[in-house]
Amino acid sequence: MSIDGIFKNTYKWKLTFPMIFLAITVFAMLASADQKTAIKGEITFIEHCAECHGDKGDGQGSVGPYLEGQRPTNLLDEKTRVRSDQDLFKIIRYGIHIEMPSWEDVLTDQEISNVINFLRILVPPFHLVPD
Ligand code: HEC
Repeated sequence: MSIDGIFKNTYKWKLTFPMIFLAITVFAMLASADQKTAIKGEITFIEHCAECHGDKGDGQGSVGPYLEGQRPTNLLDEKTRVRSDQDLFKIIRYGIHIEMPSWEDVLTDQEISNVINFLRILVPPFHLVPD
């Protein structure tokens, strides 16, 4: 290898380590930000959603049997898991059918996003799960 080549190689390595370090740091910061919003989301979920969807999101909340129409969905099911974040956002904000209320006047957009983050921790979105 020529002197020039060795110089370029060393130079590249010197840059590579700080870049990897930076990437890991940014990743860790993002992960913890997501976790924080998910914890806030869990509090909102327990406060507003658990009575129907259950503390664990499995659809076994105490109010379920008394609803006239549809039973609360098991949010751990594939049906919910395949939905995009936007889709979940719309469902939660505007409600569906009769029994799933609209949260437009109760929760802020940020609070809805936090709840979605919490749901994603209960069950990761479908495409992230290996076969
Ligand atoms: C009064 C009971 C009740 C409460 C409270 C409630 N839900 Fe629901 N939810 C339902 C019912 C019933 C359905 C099923 C509606 C249907 O499919 O017709 C549903 C459906 C859903 C769905 C769609 C699931 C799917 O994939 O089809 C999501 C997401 C959801 N609820 C999230 C929430 C969140 C988040 C909250 C709290 C902010 C909440 N729900 C509060 C009763 C409730």
